[in-house]
Amino acid sequence: MCGITGYIGKTNGLPFIIQGLKRLEYRGYDSAGISYIENSKIKTYKKKGTIHILEKNIPGNINSTALIGHTRWATHGEPSDNNSHPHNDCNNNLSIVHNGVIENYSILKAKLLEEGHKFTSDTDSEILAHLIEKCYDNDLLSAVRESLRYLEGPYGLVILSAKEPDKIIAVRNGSPLVLGIGEDAMYVASDVNALAAYTRNVIYLEDRELAVLTANSYRTYHFESGEIQKTIDKIDWDLVEMEKKGFKDFMEKEIFEQPESIGKTMKGRILKEFATSKLDGLNMRTSELEQIKEIHFVACGTSLHAAMIGAMWLENYVRIPCRCEIASEFRYRNPVVRADTLYFAISQSGETKDTIGAMQEIKIKGGKVYGICNVAGSTIARLSDGGVYLHAGPEIAVASTKAFTSQLAVLALFTLLIGRSRNLSPSVGMQWISEFEALSSNMDKILAQMDHIKSIAQKAKNYKNFLFLGRGLHYPIALEGALKLKEITYIHAEGYSAAELKHGPISLLDKDMPVMFIIPKDELYDKVFSNLQEVKARTCKVFCIATEGDTRVKEMADDVIYIPESREMFTPFLTVVPLQLLAYYVAKLLGKPVDQPRHLAKSVTVE
Ligand code: M6R
Repeated sequence: MCGITGYIGKTNGLPFIIQGLKRLEYRGYDSAGISYIENSKIKTYKKKGTIHILEKNIPGNINSTALIGHTRWATHGEPSDNNSHPHNDCNNNLSIVHNGVIENYSILKAKLLEEGHKFTSDTDSEILAHLIEKCYDNDLLSAVRESLRYLEGPYGLVILSAKEPDKIIAVRNGSPLVLGIGEDAMYVASDVNALAAYTRNVIYLEDRELAVLTANSYRTYHFESGEIQKTIDKIDWDLVEMEKKGFKDFMEKEIFEQPESIGKTMKGRILKEFATSKLDGLNMRTSELEQIKEIHFVACGTSLHAAMIGAMWLENYVRIPCRCEIASEFRYRNPVVRADTLYFAISQSGETKDTIGAMQEIKIKGGKVYGICNVAGSTIARLSDGGVYLHAGPEIAVASTKAFTSQLAVLALFTLLIGRSRNLSPSVGMQWISEFEALSSNMDKILAQMDHIKSIAQKAKNYKNFLFLGRGLHYPIALEGALKLKEITYIHAEGYSAAELKHGPISLLDKDMPVMFIIPKDELYDKVFSNLQEVKARTCKVFCIATEGDTRVKEMADDVIYIPESREMFTPFLTVVPLQLLAYYVAKLLGKPVDQPRHLAKSVTVE
């Protein structure tokens, strides 16, 4: 979703504004723009399309010490030059960039129009510039604070004023903003990725906080309680992790990184001596673990699929009732929240609005909620009562891959931890630990089959639709395989439990409906095999993910991708990898923009 950069300093801030926006490209956008102060006047350039197009349309000699930048992901008003940010007031005295949605904008706009303000876009955001203009009386901070009283809905907002060119103001209420503290320069951005090359010292604004930044000072305020002191956090990862490292796309890199990233997730978290794991960030004593009666997960998209598998593990192996829910549904159905239920929010970005909303609902109802997320310092990480970081490294491609397998690793480690505190024997614990230790090399074996998977992609790319079928632990994997394919190739794909086939989707089957079966050797193998026969009898092309050595499947399927044999619990780590690769290669063959598929955003920061 929208990306924001802002700079105030003693030297030209344009390189940061543009580089920062490029670092935020992965969030998804359709247009880009900048405003800056030059000779006490605001200059604005904005364009539909890429940052590259914007760069070609701005003067080559910009030299400004006060600037704001934006990449827009359209919500109100189509992608166009006019609807792009920044938006300025009637007299071109101030300029704003906004991420979020002003829910009551139509009422505010009608009032502002009545008062004579002139609008140039169809966006909700433009009202912000006019509202601050209306409230301005020689004090930008007061005008901003006064304006905020009228706003409903989430916003991250940065304001530049020609009348007070020595400062920029950053406001957060529901959409993330991070301050970067530099030497003779202050920065602001939607996330730390934009800041990392310029400073390692950052301050995360919380909801209902704002900051006034000058070249060498920053002051932070709470909307209600006035000035506040905030702690400075350090960015602790290496910039090189944000590079493609020789791969063509971030998605390709992230898929191939999984043997390593999963290792990082597990590092220091296995206690062989006691056949268990340790997850320090949870801050839960064994006695607290023992009191848990139920576990509920809230998440969206790929993170939800990981949660579904975690829930199955916990019920099956630890006998704790579990429930998984789409975060956006959970938050609005007035759920029952109980003190003896453990709530987990799972999110790669830690900024997904719907998941944050679900967490807030749990907290309002007196529950404690724990986070499983990748981005350190993210909103979900800070809102959690405790949690576990994935340590998978930055995930840049919109389609989530390595975060998924790391989420599974955390959930499996948690299953081991709570299992060992209850019924799970040391010998089973040790068997699981051997499986954890084999994961990276098993993944390597699958990645080594990339040429075979590419050849299947050649066949798959010609279809308009695709079905993914699996059962048990591989039902969520079927959903994930379908999600990967549809989001980056735009081929319509559905994931189903193979058993559901006869309850509807079987009517779709013909030669134009290929089916991908996830059919490893597990408890439900024979049942899925029957489904496979039913599908084959209906002239469909059949692709399979099966366990090494399974010749029965080979006889029936048109193509098989084999995964190494492993204990049933650990197969989802392996079955998902070929599906990620298949989606990637199909997208490449179709010439799609793999890392930034149309309409999608990496962090979904609006509802
Ligand atoms: O950052 P999160 O894990 O909270 O994101 C949730 C979904 O938006 C995300 O998984 C989305 O479905 C991905 N594009 C899937 O590849």
